[in-house]
Amino acid sequence: MASAAVLPKKPGTDYVPPRLREANAADAPGLAALYAVTRPQAKLGAGALREWLSRGRALLVEDADGRVLAALRHWEEGDGWRVEPIVTHPEHRGQGYGRWLMTMLEADAIRSNIPFLAVTLTDTTVLPYYQRLGYRPLGDDRQELGKRVGGVWQRTAGPG
Ligand SMILES: CC(C)(COP(=O)(O)OP(=O)(O)OC[C@H]1O[C@@H](n2cnc3c(N)ncnc32)[C@H](O)[C@@H]1OP(=O)(O)O)[C@@H](O)C(=O)NCCC(=O)NCCS
Repeated sequence: MASAAVLPKKPGTDYVPPRLREANAADAPGLAALYAVTRPQAKLGAGALREWLSRGRALLVEDADGRVLAALRHWEEGDGWRVEPIVTHPEHRGQGYGRWLMTMLEADAIRSNIPFLAVTLTDTTVLPYYQRLGYRPLGDDRQELGKRVGGVWQRTAGPG
């Protein structure tokens, strides 16, 4: 995974930009705080997330104080990666964190020769959002989406 990335600093202010990085076990409490606000029904506490992070991976966006603003979990499934729908703290939506997380995940997938990403939506209201990110329905179920990313098809697609 790439090293942590930061959004450009706004000149003339003491604003410290958020950073995006891969989560580790120490992030379990911060992730749990985010899930408690965004997906309380998932009942994902720090213990469950710490255990989960030993099997799966997550990218997160954090502010200068280390507060987790948005996250994206993913794990291997078949030849591809299954992605959980993006979670962004309600007070921090619309700032590009979701797109940033997905872009970094896709870059990682391309580097890793992962051919496709899959996501299952639990809520069709966000379908247009994922379509804008390039996801398409895999079949009749409009909530089962996929996107081709890395893999052999990319290397063989060029001229000659
Ligand atoms: C949808 C969600 C993931 C977007 O995260 P985010 O970090 O705010 O996303 P970004 O800032 O990257 O993108 C915001 C853009 O998406 C657009 N957008 C937000 N919700 C949208 C939706 N339902 N459909 C289409 N576009 C949407 C915004 O208008 C904005 O557009 P702009 O870039 O032209 O201004 C976030 O709002 C969220 O967590 N929502 C909860 C919904 C959810 O989790 N449902 C259950 C899972 S299926």
